[in-house]
Amino acid sequence: MKILGIETSCDETAASVVKDGTELLSNIISSQASIHAEFGGVVPEIAFRKHLENVIPVIDMALKASRLTLGDIDGVAVSSGPGLMGALLVGIQSAKGISLTRGIPLIPVNHIEGHIHAVFLENNLAKKPQFPFIALVVSGGHSHLYLVKGHGMYSCLGQTVDDAAGESFDKVAKMLALEYPGGPVIDRLSKEGDPKSIKFPIAMMKKDNLNFSFSGLKTAVRYHIEADEDLSLESDGNIKHTEKLNNIASSFQYAIVEALVRKTALACKKTGVFDVVITGGVACNSLLRSRMQQEISGDVFYPSPIMCTDNAAMIAACGFYRYELGECAGEELDARPRWPLSEMNTGHSP
Ligand code: KG4
Ligand code: ZN
Repeated sequence: MKILGIETSCDETAASVVKDGTELLSNIISSQASIHAEFGGVVPEIAFRKHLENVIPVIDMALKASRLTLGDIDGVAVSSGPGLMGALLVGIQSAKGISLTRGIPLIPVNHIEGHIHAVFLENNLAKKPQFPFIALVVSGGHSHLYLVKGHGMYSCLGQTVDDAAGESFDKVAKMLALEYPGGPVIDRLSKEGDPKSIKFPIAMMKKDNLNFSFSGLKTAVRYHIEADEDLSLESDGNIKHTEKLNNIASSFQYAIVEALVRKTALACKKTGVFDVVITGGVACNSLLRSRMQQEISGDVFYPSPIMCTDNAAMIAACGFYRYELGECAGEELDARPRWPLSEMNTGHSP
């Protein structure tokens, strides 16, 4: 079954064709990051307008790259939440139009569930993830721990009580006058810095629950910057003291990664499930990948960087399993800016 996936929930306009939930035929991503960079974060109205401009060309490119036409497509899956309302609507209306005119199923996909399914597109892994596993979904908008028992079977074990992990990377990067998105830049600078040079707080570690909190860490970084004159911005808007800059980046990254890794290890201990999937944009982080491998006794799986950040292949892959569970929508399909994954529990254990 060939599914066309469409993703417009945030600042990537993406379309992809995936066969039977695992075989990637095309993957086109048009990122708006450089446009939003000017504002230091995603501007919803600009995101909506850019999706409107790009969605049809991106779908056409995905079909062309897979050497198919709409007539060859068996279903259209669309990211229908969570995300930005206006942005989501562009993808949904495009998918509805295709479904209606071609007479093919319209499959709504939860964006977070999509992130988890990105790992099933990695066909070069020596081993495939087997259910059950723990999923750590960490992106610009989400920081969640789930127990995944099967396709469509999720229990939320913990989540952030304030900022998302990616949001924290982006906000700290902004404080340091670094470009948006902040995660990749902080990852790069951290390699030149000493992660133990500044003791930033590793949050929620004393608590026995599986929630995260990153706003205290962000405030600690702000106070640290404000207290040091070498870290005030020069006239060109940059921080000149590169050694200090690298040390802050590295110490901040260490604190956030430790919180993510230790809580994931606690989730494994509490559930007795030791295989872990990490996904979402922050799963590109090099320290998170290596620390997770060290701390987790089971297997750790993560998609390639291009599949960790927002893409439509994960939506098409997830759409295949949703279709198999009999979940299609009609013309009434609407965007769901807030849509907890716990409401997706319609699956069954394999
Ligand atoms: O999954 P994604 O593309 O979009 C959302 O669904 O939010 O994630 C984007 C986020 C951004 O906050 C970005 O800074 C972060 O992922 N990110 C990283 C890295 N690459 C991207 N964070 C830490 N280290 C990275 N290497
Ligand atoms: Zn995402």
